[in-house]
Amino acid sequence: MSNDAIVLLKDDHKEVRKVFRDFESAGEDATERKGKLVEKMIELLTQHTYIENEVMYPRVRELLPDLEDDVLESYEEHHVADVLVMELAAMKPTDERFDAKTTVLIENVRHHMDEEEEDWFPKVREGLGRNALQEIGEELLAAKKKAPTKPSQPSALKTFG
Ligand SMILES: [Fe+2]
Ligand SMILES: [Fe+2]
Repeated sequence: MSNDAIVLLKDDHKEVRKVFRDFESAGEDATERKGKLVEKMIELLTQHTYIENEVMYPRVRELLPDLEDDVLESYEEHHVADVLVMELAAMKPTDERFDAKTTVLIENVRHHMDEEEEDWFPKVREGLGRNALQEIGEELLAAKKKAPTKPSQPSALKTFG
């Protein structure tokens, strides 16, 4: 099994994208189902953001200083998603703004994942090479084991390094 960091992160993205699509096709009245799907989104995004914030971004920043601006932009995009996730976690699926807020979260995160996949990951792969990406992949897997799944858990708050 490949523990390549970029492969692992892309697998996460795939899982997130699937839940986004399920939400979008759930239909106007599927309130309960949409509530469950948003719970799943929150769980996946909290975990994924954590392992990127704690492992991927700091390692890349350290090893490839030229990509610093991209990393800083990514931290800000994560922050925007965190705010939306926290607000959603405090809402009920019956709330008037629940669907609208979820839609804005989906738009934001899709844009961010597209940027990572199309622009950032290729630069990182070229800059780091296979061995470094394997090592970072191991660290990502270890971080995932202790990653928070709810935004209310203290470790979900980004500590800026
Ligand atoms: Fe990210
Ligand atoms: Fe990502």
